[in-house]
Amino acid sequence: MKILVLHGPNLNLLGTREPGVYGSLTMEDINARCVALGRELGAEVRCAQSNHEGALIDALHEARGWAVGVVFNPGGYTHTSVALRDAISAIGIPVVEAHLSNVYAREDFRHKSLVSAVCKAKISGAGWRSYTLALRFLVELAGD
Ligand code: DQA
Repeated sequence: MKILVLHGPNLNLLGTREPGVYGSLTMEDINARCVALGRELGAEVRCAQSNHEGALIDALHEARGWAVGVVFNPGGYTHTSVALRDAISAIGIPVVEAHLSNVYAREDFRHKSLVSAVCKAKISGAGWRSYTLALRFLVELAGD
């Protein structure tokens, strides 16, 4: 069982980017926790990040060929990208939308997500645990 953890724009700066909002773990720290949890649960976790919409779309398309699901934090593209929404609905494997911060407790423009309706589930506000919760869910779902 293989799962993709995919990070969108600016998430490569975690650790130093607004730690009061996003926490002090780096993206590499979060990836390491996801890989370790995956090992515990019997899943191989692969991680990727891009600041580019097209590269994120490519990663989603490729995941269709090898992953049972995707944990995806689309970052700012969450609120703007029709193309990412279309990619998620095109690939036909479950995608969980994950956000470190509680987007509903923040600016109005973050309350709208273009991807939520085509995602299997959404976890927002659990910090780095948004990723591990999403991962646990996908592993359970794959076993159903
Ligand atoms: C984010 C929330 C988005 O609104 C923001 O643009 C991000 C990070 C989060 O993980 O809380 O880049 O997706």
